[in-house]
Amino acid sequence: MAVGEAGASTRSDVPEAPDAGTFGVYLHWPFCLAKCPYCDFNSHVRHGAIDQARYVAAFAAELAATAARVPGRIVSTIFFGGGTPSLMEPATVAAILDAVARHWNIAADVEVTLEANPTSVEAERFAGFRAAGVNRVSLGVQALEDRALAALGRRHSAAEALAAVAIARRLFARYSFDLIYARPDQTPAAWRSELKQAIAEAAEHLSLYQLTIEPETPFAALHAAGRLAIPDADLARSLYDATQEVCAAAGLPAYEISNHARAGAECRHNLVYWRYHEYAGIGPGAHGRLDLDGRRRATATEKRPEAWLMRVEAGGHGVITDEALTRGESADEFLLMGLRLAEGIDLKRYAALAGAPLAAAQIAELARHGLVETTAAGRLRVTPAGFPVLDAIVADLAA
Ligand SMILES: C[S@@+](CC[C@H](N)C(=O)[O-])C[C@H]1O[C@@H](n2cnc3c(N)ncnc32)[C@H](O)[C@@H]1O
Ligand code: SF4
Repeated sequence: MAVGEAGASTRSDVPEAPDAGTFGVYLHWPFCLAKCPYCDFNSHVRHGAIDQARYVAAFAAELAATAARVPGRIVSTIFFGGGTPSLMEPATVAAILDAVARHWNIAADVEVTLEANPTSVEAERFAGFRAAGVNRVSLGVQALEDRALAALGRRHSAAEALAAVAIARRLFARYSFDLIYARPDQTPAAWRSELKQAIAEAAEHLSLYQLTIEPETPFAALHAAGRLAIPDADLARSLYDATQEVCAAAGLPAYEISNHARAGAECRHNLVYWRYHEYAGIGPGAHGRLDLDGRRRATATEKRPEAWLMRVEAGGHGVITDEALTRGESADEFLLMGLRLAEGIDLKRYAALAGAPLAAAQIAELARHGLVETTAAGRLRVTPAGFPVLDAIVADLAA
């Protein structure tokens, strides 16, 4: 019996989520102008020019190979992530979107997001991205204070970022931006006022990430050497609490642990992940979840851009991992992703994926501590008191 065969999930017995049938396409552009010292994303700096036409051909080939495996899908969301996708030429974006549309049907209300760094050079391309079919941008603003931006190793000033936000506002019906908080020397009072300024600039959506020290980054080395002090657990908690309070008061409550939106303005692509729908991952280091023959499969491609390119050119795709998940693995992923959402998870869908209900005793114990609650509609969700210890809750509940 193949690995993962025992107890494999058959998806026909899984209750449909309200937006079942949703299919997302993630496209990874792995290049940046410089590597930020805190970042461990699959992003690479290249000193020579990137041959974008060659990458377009490779993206088109990998899209064709993926569509041959999961034909007939209706694409509801597309996301260009990175790296820095705003370094792509608009013609590159247009050609890749054409390739998506050659293989699958595109929903009339498709959401097409592109992650952009907020420099003036990149903002100049925004009109081209819109003409190519992008209808939402997500800007990596990170901070609205110049000193903090410099400390994060960013190449833009706050004024430049706000100018890029203004261009995004003019050109796109939908935009969002990212901020990093719990930065060195940040006080709750300073963060509150920075956040209020951000909310005044953000129409409908903000992603607010606590700074994490990722292994093997320059920040990890500085931190280990005692040269980078980040807020301790109590201060980080005060900053988190301030985030929830200021955003909720402004009508941008958290719909996911780090994402805030007005009702209806949630990032539909990220909801595909968190609601555990199906998505294709295309480009270097992209992950996908495909439903094939009643089984959920986890795919991942080669991370190194040039190695990915050569694999695709030689064999039509860069997939190096392609595994059928067991029922337990699928159910755990569903739990892990879904409990990040304020709406929580459908317990019936969990039971159908896992082949058994979630342990009632564990739920009751967590509920007794006020960390989770169940709703009349049969959902399990984490409470505001539970979100700061989400990882521990998931570890407790996972199979
Ligand atoms: C792929 S990056 C964004 C794209 C774009 N290259 C940029 O930096 O503006 C996604 C987001 O993750 C967040 N991020 C990356 N590393 C982080 C870290 N160590 N701690 C907290 N947030 C982080 C940043 O807010 C960043 O905008
Ligand atoms: S944070 Fe963004 S710009 Fe900086 S290295 Fe990571 S992906 Fe590139």
